[in-house]
Amino acid sequence: MTAPRFITFEGIDGSGKSTQARALAQRLKKAGQDVVLTREPGGSPGAEEIRQLLLTGDPDRWTAETEILLFTAARRDHLEKTIQPALDAGKIVISDRFADSTRVYQGATRGDLRGTVDQLHDLMIGREPDLTFIIDMDPATALSRGLARQSGEDRFEDMGLSFQETLRHGFLSLAHAHPNRCVLIDGNREAEAITSEIAAHL
Ligand code: ADP
Ligand code: TYD
Repeated sequence: MTAPRFITFEGIDGSGKSTQARALAQRLKKAGQDVVLTREPGGSPGAEEIRQLLLTGDPDRWTAETEILLFTAARRDHLEKTIQPALDAGKIVISDRFADSTRVYQGATRGDLRGTVDQLHDLMIGREPDLTFIIDMDPATALSRGLARQSGEDRFEDMGLSFQETLRHGFLSLAHAHPNRCVLIDGNREAEAITSEIAAHL
């Protein structure tokens, strides 16, 4: 088996993805690897502009269908401008969220739109990560951590606790459906313990 080079972090809002993605990037850099740490929505100048449209404003600013189009547009730009060039240059890419977030946030929360998400993914993205860490944790704790940041990008957190509970189940089903690519990580622990487990997987 070849070493994974495109690694993603997924999970509900506030589950510790950014913290763990940063920690893994630091560890790999210390070990002499060339690493690009990036995020979605965003990760390229055009996609960062789309991010602002998606994460600010009223919770019902966009329907799930419109979100699928905007997230996929942002992802296409991210892939073209950041991810693919880095992989082609032999670097490791760590992304804080990728297509699994669309499968769960848009595909399984407001009606069953999973088929639409998958069709658009096949048409416009057509790429899966080599390895995905799904951080699983208690939605109430994660939501309070996320809202405490006061980032001003809380459109999805503002959809409430039951929305986060639905998301959690969506991520658990995804992990079970793709056991070769996805590793489920218990996020209800100290950050350092989680980082060590993730590093051990690699
Ligand atoms: P996400 O990217 O999943 O939204 P973050 O990594 O930004 O999550 O973490 C959300 C908040 O919780 C941050 O303030 C972060 O410092 C804190 N945090 C992250 N991991 C842990 C942990 N294992 N235990 C306690 N707090 C944490
Ligand atoms: P992020 O900044 O990672 O939020 P958090 O730190 O709260 O986890 O992601 C922004 C929000 O966008 C998050 O609430 C999840 C949502 N999102 C989708 O709904 N679909 C997607 O495809 C992506 C990438 C993110």
